Amino acid sequence: MPAASRRLIAGNWKMNGERAAGLALARDIVAELRGAHDRVATVAVCPPFTLLHPVAEVLAGSAIKLGAQDCHDQLSGAFTGSIAAPMLADAGCTFVILGHSERRHRLGESDALVRAKLGAAWQAKLPPILCLGEQSSEREAGATLDVVGRQLADSLPPGDAALVVAYEPVWAIGSGRVPGRGDIAAVHTFLRQELMRVRADGEAIPILYGGSVGAGNAAEIIGIEEVGGVLVGGASLNAASFAAIARAAG
Ligand code: PGA
Repeated sequence: MPAASRRLIAGNWKMNGERAAGLALARDIVAELRGAHDRVATVAVCPPFTLLHPVAEVLAGSAIKLGAQDCHDQLSGAFTGSIAAPMLADAGCTFVILGHSERRHRLGESDALVRAKLGAAWQAKLPPILCLGEQSSEREAGATLDVVGRQLADSLPPGDAALVVAYEPVWAIGSGRVPGRGDIAAVHTFLRQELMRVRADGEAIPILYGGSVGAGNAAEIIGIEEVGGVLVGGASLNAASFAAIARAAG
């Protein structure tokens, strides 16, 4: 991790959270982390679109940031059912997750589409969290670095606007399986080299790890020198677990 950066601990609620439960979760996270986390890490929650405005109100006055889980590649227009990056900024978001493997593999998002979405996020001054990661067959074939290298090259537009990268092996997401420390470090080191090749600020871009991070393994994963924080799915739906992960960043 670059020496001067703060770690980023981001919770991806995915398609979970109706109003009462989502607001209770946000309130509990604020209460759990009051005064504790902001010295050491940036903490963000990424609820579904329907909860962005009310969760923004719950987070007001805390140091916890709001993020979104996706945006359209255009800034406005006749795109029924879609949400544009400026709407997310307007709702109080300071991050947007893009290229998550559930969208790449289950909804067929291509690198080209992800790249266009990053362009839209940048136009809205919304830092994207660009997700990359190999599938289990690709890891077994020894193709992990080729896959993440290609995803990075093809999903990252030219430019130097704010960026976070998240390495999320597809087979580790929601599975309880986590790569070994050495495997995580190797992919992060490779991504760092690639970022330094294409961006003047490549050394300072946070590179997160995501995939089955929980209260029990967060300290070990965040303790890997190359890891700049974590993107948390399932464990971010429990305030105590998410707070424990955030505290592990200290
Ligand atoms: P998980 O999800 O923590 O439930 O494995 C991570 C993610 O999809 O970002």
